[in-house]
Amino acid sequence: MKFARRMNNFGEGVFARLAAMKQEKISSGAKVIDLSIGAPNIPPPAHVMKVLSEEALKPENYVYAITDKRELLNEVAEWYRRRYGVEIDPASEVCSLWGSQEGLSHIALTLIDDGDLTLVPDPCYPIFADGAKLAGSEIFYMPQLKEHDYIIQLEKIPRDIAERAKFMVVSYPNNPTTAIAPADFYERLIHFAKKYNIIVLHDNAYSELIFDGSKGFSFLSFKGAKDIGVEFNSLSKTYGIAGARVGFCLGNREIVRHVKLLKSNIDYGLFLPIQKAAIAALRSQQEVIDQTRAAYIERIDALIDGLNAVGWKIDKPKATMFVWATVPEKFGTSEEFVKILLEKANVMVTPGSAFGPSGEGFVRMALVQTAYTMKQVAAQIKSSIEL
Ligand SMILES: Cc1ncc(COP(=O)(O)O)c(C=O)c1O
Repeated sequence: MKFARRMNNFGEGVFARLAAMKQEKISSGAKVIDLSIGAPNIPPPAHVMKVLSEEALKPENYVYAITDKRELLNEVAEWYRRRYGVEIDPASEVCSLWGSQEGLSHIALTLIDDGDLTLVPDPCYPIFADGAKLAGSEIFYMPQLKEHDYIIQLEKIPRDIAERAKFMVVSYPNNPTTAIAPADFYERLIHFAKKYNIIVLHDNAYSELIFDGSKGFSFLSFKGAKDIGVEFNSLSKTYGIAGARVGFCLGNREIVRHVKLLKSNIDYGLFLPIQKAAIAALRSQQEVIDQTRAAYIERIDALIDGLNAVGWKIDKPKATMFVWATVPEKFGTSEEFVKILLEKANVMVTPGSAFGPSGEGFVRMALVQTAYTMKQVAAQIKSSIEL
């Protein structure tokens, strides 16, 4: 059989190797603490699960939805107005996605012709680069380096690259580095994008998971943002409903129109009970987000205090649901260190190199275990590895 060349983008990578190692460990009777994948395990609010289950019992909800319910789009617009002070026209400036991951991959098909160029952060959430590559784009990495607080240095992007770029993906609070960008970064970003005629996709999955007391904002709240870009938002982390797959693309109406047009040809809309559950989540009882933040803070404290006490010096993240930690000096590459952690301490994390070249020298830990288990991580490392 002959498969498409684009499938070469998905070789047996580091994740497959680690999964095999984890399986081997488990087969030998070890109990592995897995902090590798960012699958949130804080349950959704009870009222959201109630709506989802009640709506799932109605036979009439099993038809193709085809389009977004107007009530859902109104609710998203209302949420953007209330939460970020951003006005969104529900009819033309927002559409739903099967999770923001789906939108971030498919949108590239609306923008890229063979050989076009896309700018993505480095390190970055993998779909930013993969979606563009699947659409036939070349990739230029914009480094996010520790010495710049992991903020992209727009002025360092070579002029010929900026002139060729079709779109760029930017995302703060950032996975994996956990950085938050200051407001003036967005002003410079919009200026840069206008100067070089580049479309901006801002992924805002973590605006509600900020722990330093500051309030997350929307890219669309900056003057001129809607002229050149869209924002992706997701209910996955904010309301703990990742498996129900619901996100949104909002902003520039031409871009939203193209995403809707593409999607109208490749899917039949979100399952109606999920649309109803999303309305319930957006509409009421927002204090649940405070509880989610508190749970992550407890996990961060348990993990980082424990690791600092055993000699692995790590800063507490200000945002997201991850910890971005430097590989201690004597342990070689990030992938080698990840193997040692798994082999000796039964703890699985993700090598920074999996997120792009500038991720080398770091590992990412997802805050997806209870505070109790997070304490256990430090204990297992202490008893098995000399840091
Ligand atoms: C930065 C970022 N964007 C998007 C997603 C995917 O979110 P969704 O569940 O809406 O597809 C994730 C999930 O980890 C993420 O970290």
